Amino acid sequence: MTVLFPKWTNKVPAYLALGAGSAGLLVVLVVSFWFSPKNTDVGYQPYQPISYSHKLHAGSLGMDCRYCHRAVEEGAAASIPDAATCYGCHQHVKKDSIQLESLRAQFVPDAPDDHPVEWIKVHLLPDYAYFNHSVHIAAQVGCKSCHGRVDQMEIVRQVEPLSMGWCLACHRDPAAHIRPLDVSVTNMTWEPNEASKTAAMKLLDWDGDNVPKLNPPTHCSACHR
Ligand code: HEC
Ligand code: HEC
Ligand code: HEC
Ligand code: HEC
Ligand code: HEC
Repeated sequence: MTVLFPKWTNKVPAYLALGAGSAGLLVVLVVSFWFSPKNTDVGYQPYQPISYSHKLHAGSLGMDCRYCHRAVEEGAAASIPDAATCYGCHQHVKKDSIQLESLRAQFVPDAPDDHPVEWIKVHLLPDYAYFNHSVHIAAQVGCKSCHGRVDQMEIVRQVEPLSMGWCLACHRDPAAHIRPLDVSVTNMTWEPNEASKTAAMKLLDWDGDNVPKLNPPTHCSACHR
């Protein structure tokens, strides 16, 4: 028997229903369905142009994430460091390392290949989904909640699905992810406990002054603007 409609088409009516009233969103979701990028997958771990290790720099050397990801507290994007950030140390440390040749080349005037390091993106949301790091950092959600133990990764790997269901699961019940103010968002070993969850519930609750201090949204237009 010929299969006229492959299994995936079963989902189309549901999408149509969801997108009702918004032709733009409809186009976007049909397109996203067909071209769902590989790099939104858990386990995605591309090799990078320089074998930079988070396990060494953030783990063994204990460097804070914000030394390199400087925009994470103020910006939507966390930002990837430029070569000068690395060169600050590597003009002194391991300065002849073969692994750092392409980095050094950028500081040689008129070098034949002085182009920036082209890091390959690991985490990537579709354009139609809005995400902002700074809001989450201000709410004391740690990097670990969304990126896992980066300090143990030789090569960065995606550990969470970054799907809508994943975003919403936390937005509906975020207490275990909200840290006390005296625990850094970049601390990789912190675990929630009863006291931290109770304190978080107070920030999320509105019986006190009727105004929630933290309010993770679940309405569509928060993330699809
Ligand atoms: C010495 C600089 C440096 C430090 C410190 C650092 N990173 Fe990075 N990070 C990078 C560079 C360079 C990349 C891009 C190459 C790669 O993916 O390994 C990156 C990539 C990442 C990515 C993947 C970005 C993408 O493309 O999706 C995440 C997530 C990340 N870092 C989180 C962290 C966390 C969490 C910490 C602290 C525990 C941290 N980083 C500390 C330099 C740094
Ligand atoms: C609430 C979840 C969440 C938290 C908390 C979080 N991230 Fe991210 N991160 C994401 C998502 C989602 C993306 C992909 C964003 C995109 O493609 O627009 C991302 C992307 C990145 C990237 C790639 C560059 C970029 O901004 O797209 C880096 C680097 C990164 N995060 C580092 C960090 C660091 C360091 C921390 C802690 C200080 C952190 N993140 C906390 C969810 C989170
Ligand atoms: C705060 C200083 C510091 C910064 C900033 C820094 N590194 Fe390093 N890096 C080190 C130290 C220390 C070592 C380990 C040296 C050793 O093994 O004795 C190292 C080792 C390395 C190595 C291994 C070299 C080899 O031959 O074994 C690479 C590759 C590397 N770093 C890449 C980078 C990149 C890329 C950046 C920028 C994203 C960066 N580093 C930023 C201090 C730094
Ligand atoms: C681990 C928990 C957690 C995860 C995962 C998470 N969020 Fe949030 N998010 C929060 C909390 C807590 C707030 C409330 C912040 C506040 O009220 O100040 C929030 C607020 C927001 C807001 C409203 C603030 C703003 O930026 O306009 C948006 C939008 C948002 N998140 C998008 C996302 C998206 C998209 C994802 C998935 C890619 C995601 N979040 C994943 C915890 C999370
Ligand atoms: C907290 C943020 C958030 C909220 C709220 C949210 N979405 Fe999403 N949505 C996302 C993210 C992130 C994706 C991308 C998921 C992916 O790449 O797998 C997405 C994807 C989608 C898709 C495409 C599905 C697919 O499989 O590609 C549709 C349709 C959609 N959302 C509709 C909605 C509707 C309707 C609502 C309101 C009921 C809503 N969203 C609320 C974050 C959100």
